[in-house]
Amino acid sequence: MNKYAIVLAAGKGTRMKSMREDVSKVSFPILGRPLLQWVLEALKGLSLDKIVTVVGFGGVTSEQIARPYGEVVWQKEQKGTGHAVMMAAPLLKDEDGVTLVCCGDTPLLTDKTLSALLSAHETNHNSLTLLTSVVEDPHGYGRILKKDGRVVRIVEQKDCNAELDAIHEINAGVYAFDNRELFRCLNDLTPNNAAKEYYLTDVIAMFVEKSLKVSSFSIADPSETMGINDRYQLSVASCEMKRRINKRWMIHGVTFEDPETAYIGPEVKLSRDTVIRPNTHVLGKSYVGHDNVIGPNTYLENVHVGERNRIEYAHLVDTTVEDDCVLGPFLRTRGNTLIHSGALVGNFNELKNAEIGSGTFCSHLSYVGDATVGENVNVGCGVVVANYDGVNKFHSTIEDNAFIGSGSTLISPVTVGKGSFVAAGSVINKDVPADDMAIARTRQENKPGYAKVLREKAQKKRK
Ligand code: UD1
Ligand code: CA
Repeated sequence: MNKYAIVLAAGKGTRMKSMREDVSKVSFPILGRPLLQWVLEALKGLSLDKIVTVVGFGGVTSEQIARPYGEVVWQKEQKGTGHAVMMAAPLLKDEDGVTLVCCGDTPLLTDKTLSALLSAHETNHNSLTLLTSVVEDPHGYGRILKKDGRVVRIVEQKDCNAELDAIHEINAGVYAFDNRELFRCLNDLTPNNAAKEYYLTDVIAMFVEKSLKVSSFSIADPSETMGINDRYQLSVASCEMKRRINKRWMIHGVTFEDPETAYIGPEVKLSRDTVIRPNTHVLGKSYVGHDNVIGPNTYLENVHVGERNRIEYAHLVDTTVEDDCVLGPFLRTRGNTLIHSGALVGNFNELKNAEIGSGTFCSHLSYVGDATVGENVNVGCGVVVANYDGVNKFHSTIEDNAFIGSGSTLISPVTVGKGSFVAAGSVINKDVPADDMAIARTRQENKPGYAKVLREKAQKKRK
């Protein structure tokens, strides 16, 4: 049987109270991944024949998110969820098969649940199977009205009276429809309700009236069906997603000292015996190998970390760290940085587009930008690579075993040769050949006893 999905993502998300016109609700992120993408990822696991995403408000952003997963159609005016599904008619209405309809604002749904819903739909030869759950607080959701155990219709919150309001079984907004029947019924939909919208949920009663087989499929974990309508719900879903991801890594052999404050992105890979300490983010396409200690207070984004490193109080982006390094406290790296094995970089340093060789020390207060630093180099305290003249960036090289004295500035482009020695406080603007010593500062002059003379003069003046 052909299988399709339609994802509804055109709504404004009024309850998010955003002042921006270009941001759709479904582009709000959880752990760096937009709500819509969480849903699309779950669908991706089902090997469907086609995924159609309906975008509208803030649709340019939503379209960018959805494109890699399939087709995109526009709903220019948001006239309700039923109207949104109609937008997919040109692509799907004449197909035989089953169509999953879900909302772009339910990021906690899993592929496991979706595929169980599809199986139940097929096994029971249903024309419509809807995903429901029994929740403690059903407010805001459509309620499942049943008669003799069979679904009769769905009543939206706005149309609930006190009796219906007391129903705790809710519509998760996920349905498996017989595709042709779905589009047939949509043609007859009217906006006769409190919101004056074309409700997709009214299609359920239409199926029932046509005596088509309608069943509900109840989900065990109601957290999965949570729809994100406001920013409080966004925070609750973020915490739940964080909990799921962290649990998965803990089962896999990663220690989390405080999972409440560890944020691991969905595309991150961690390895066994690594310890994630409190207040740590690992996001983007990061990889962390075995036996590392990451954190406390560390942010890694698109970072590749080898084995046995210690990284604390650090902010690393687009960086590769090999093995056995000690990084931080207080290190910032960005833009294409590579730190080779056994390096020690920490205590208020910044690296940008830099390569730090094996066994190199860069221990205090330095800026190394657009530079290649060789092996076993000592970059002294407060060394600055002056890479920028206000218009262009230049590259410098510090070769193996060089020693750069504290407080020196290298004005790029320069090469400091192998085994050379730069005296503290030097301003280097010419290459230093291998094994040379460079000293580039004005010679010191001492005036014997003159400090005392000055002090006495000043004291006399005060009297
Ligand atoms: C909807 C369901 C409700 C269910 C709940 C589950 C309807 C009428 N109600 O309510 O029964 O319990 O989801 O979370 O379907 N959208 C469009 N175009 C529109 C309107 C909405 O694409 O014109 C999209 C939104 O972007 C969103 C989804 O449809 O992703 C659901 O819309 P939303 O307004 O959040 O519906 P709910 O009130 O939550
Ligand atoms: Ca919703």
